[in-house]
Amino acid sequence: MKKCRISGDKLIKFLDLGKQPLGNGFLNSKKKFKTEYFYNLELGFSKKSSMVQLLKAPKKEKMFNNNYAFYSSTSSYMDKHFKKFADEIKNFLLKKKLKKPLIVEIGSNDGIMLKRFKKFHHLGIEPAKNVALVCKNKTKCKVLIEFYSKKTLNKISRKFNKKVDVYYSTNVLGHIEDIQNVFKNISQSLSDKGILVFEDPYLGEIIKKNSYDQIYDEHIYFFSLISVSKLANMYNLNLFDASPQQTHGGSMRYYLCKNNVYKKTSRLKKLFSNEKKLNLDKLKTYNLFTKRVKNSKEKLLSLLKKLKKNNKIIYAYGATAKSTTIFNFCKIDDQLINFYFDNTKIKQNKFSPGMHIKVKSFKKLSNFPDYYFLSAWNHKNEIFKKEKKYIKMGGKWITHVPFVKII
Ligand code: TMP
Repeated sequence: MKKCRISGDKLIKFLDLGKQPLGNGFLNSKKKFKTEYFYNLELGFSKKSSMVQLLKAPKKEKMFNNNYAFYSSTSSYMDKHFKKFADEIKNFLLKKKLKKPLIVEIGSNDGIMLKRFKKFHHLGIEPAKNVALVCKNKTKCKVLIEFYSKKTLNKISRKFNKKVDVYYSTNVLGHIEDIQNVFKNISQSLSDKGILVFEDPYLGEIIKKNSYDQIYDEHIYFFSLISVSKLANMYNLNLFDASPQQTHGGSMRYYLCKNNVYKKTSRLKKLFSNEKKLNLDKLKTYNLFTKRVKNSKEKLLSLLKKLKKNNKIIYAYGATAKSTTIFNFCKIDDQLINFYFDNTKIKQNKFSPGMHIKVKSFKKLSNFPDYYFLSAWNHKNEIFKKEKKYIKMGGKWITHVPFVKII
C-alpha cells in the first residue's frame, strides 16, 4: 500500500497516466533514446491530509541537476509578475518595520525574482547548478547551490547570525518530496514576525480546467488551501492569507506565519468557501477528473488524426514539460505533430522526452503551419500578442484547455 507522505495514511490511486519520461528530459542525440528513463506516472489522494500527490516520484537528483532545462526568465510576463510579487514583499517589510530583514528564496532559479532583493540581506537556494550559475553571474546575488535542508539552516545562521524574516518560493515547494522537513526547517528558522509566502499551481484550477498536463515528475504535490493549511499546522505554522494568481494556468499564493501572529484575512475566508464548493477534500471529485482526462485524450487524438488525414501541418508551440505528459499519455509522436518550436536555447535542436519530436528555434521557421498545438497554453495572451501575423493569415490553434477545441 502506498502511503501519504504527509499523514502516513492510505494514498488512494485515482489516475494513471502511463509510462512517462522526465517532463524536462530533452535528449540531445538519438543515441540517448535507448537509455531514456521512464517511470509510471500515477496520482493519488489522501483523505486525512487532503493532499493530492504522485504515487512515485523520480529521485530529485535526476530532475534538478546541471542539465535542468527550465529557465524562469524566458517570459516577459513572468518577469513583470515577479517584480510585482517582490514589491509586495518589500511593502510588507516596510509595514512591519523589520530591521535589516533577511530574505531567503527557496529555488531561486536564474534569479528572476532574487535580483530584486540585492540591496537586502538575501540568499537564494538552488540545487540546479546551471541555472544557479546564471543567477550568480548575471545578477551577482548570493546563492547556495544545494537542496534546502537542515544543513542549509546552519549555513544561514553562520552567515547572517539571525532568523529569516521572509522565506519565499515560487513553483518550487510542490516539487519537493520531503515537504515535511522543509516546513519543519522553515518553522525553526523563521523570525517571530516572519512569513513564508509561496505560490504554486492551484489544484482547484487544474480540476476546473482539466489541465492534467500539470502532472509530471517535478510536480509531486498539488496544493489546495485545505491541504496547505493542514500541512502548515503540523509544524506550528498557520495559513493567514491567500491570493489567486494567473501564472502557470492558475496558481495560488499562500501566506503563512508562526503561532497565529497575523489574523486570518477575510479574503482567505472567501477563498476557503469557494474551495469548499469544488469538493477538493472528496475522492469523488478526483474520480470524475479521471473520466474527463480520458475523454480529453480521445478527443485530442481523433482531432489530430483527422487533420493529418487532410495533410495539415501541425507544430507544437512551446516545448513544455506539461506537453511531455500529454504526448506520452496520448502517444502523440512526430507523425501527428511534426516539430516543436521554442525560444529556449537549451531545448533547441534536442528531441522531446519519450516521443522524440524535434525541437526547433522560431528562427528556423520558414513557413507557418496550418495549426499550432498550444503546448504553452498558460502563456496564451503573451503568445497571441506576439503571433498576430500568424493569426491574421488564418493560422489556427489547438488547445485541450478546458476541453479539446480549435481556436
Ligand atoms: P512553461 O509553460 O513551463 O513556462 O514553459 C513555456 C515554454 O514555452 C518555454 O520552453 C518557453 C516557451 N515559450 C516560447 O517558446 N515562446 C513564447 O513566447 C513563450 C511565452 C514561451
